[in-house]
Amino acid sequence: MQEITPEQATATPMPRIGDLAPAFTAQTTQGLINFPADYAGKWTILFSHPADFTPVCTSEFMTFATMQDEFEAYNTQLVGLSIDGLYSHIAWLRTIKEKMVFRDMKNVEVTFPLIDDVSMNVASKYGMIMPGEATTQAVRAVFVIDPAGIIRTILYYPLALGRNFDELLRVIKGLQTADAFDVALPADWQPGEPVIVPPAGSCGTAEERMTNSGDDVECIDWFFCTKELSEQQVDAAIRVS
Ligand code: BEZ
Repeated sequence: MQEITPEQATATPMPRIGDLAPAFTAQTTQGLINFPADYAGKWTILFSHPADFTPVCTSEFMTFATMQDEFEAYNTQLVGLSIDGLYSHIAWLRTIKEKMVFRDMKNVEVTFPLIDDVSMNVASKYGMIMPGEATTQAVRAVFVIDPAGIIRTILYYPLALGRNFDELLRVIKGLQTADAFDVALPADWQPGEPVIVPPAGSCGTAEERMTNSGDDVECIDWFFCTKELSEQQVDAAIRVS
């Protein structure tokens, strides 16, 4: 098993929100991909997991694969990665389909690409190896990349804690809603709940902002104005199928 030193792990600067997603070509369970070029015009979730044939990762893959249609309805493609090889990936995904049961999920077929990153080329470029947590495995990293190839959200989870995939869907819907309506979304926002307008840089009193922004805007103070945005309006703008 290949090991990475802290020096190697920090040799490449970690990508940040707002950066262009680092480019790479890689072999996957669905063939060769050229990332992010192959995904131009789509949102992508590039995520790493520590290792094939491990229980938390298995529960994550079953959950993500089961939700794949929902992500695709919001123009979002999934791409997984671990520093295991292709034959391990194929054997693990076959075991998941043939044997694994988690919650009410079974016979789950993973059809999104899973990258073979034995060389750690991609994991190193994306800062997925955190030697304080593990020197031979990637942590649970999530990069949300927009249709222009810009990194819009980064999440990191440790080895022992599985991710919340409803939150990832909320991130996708939230980013797309913020872009489509030029708004910001408050804590725990879900589609159908009030949104914050405009996102930044406004001034004036609450009264002035309400007057200038139209009837549907409500301000509690000059810096905190909201408006209603129904789930139907959100879906009409961002849902593609
Ligand atoms: C897991 O996916 O179950 C796992 C992977 C690496 C370390 C701990 C747990």
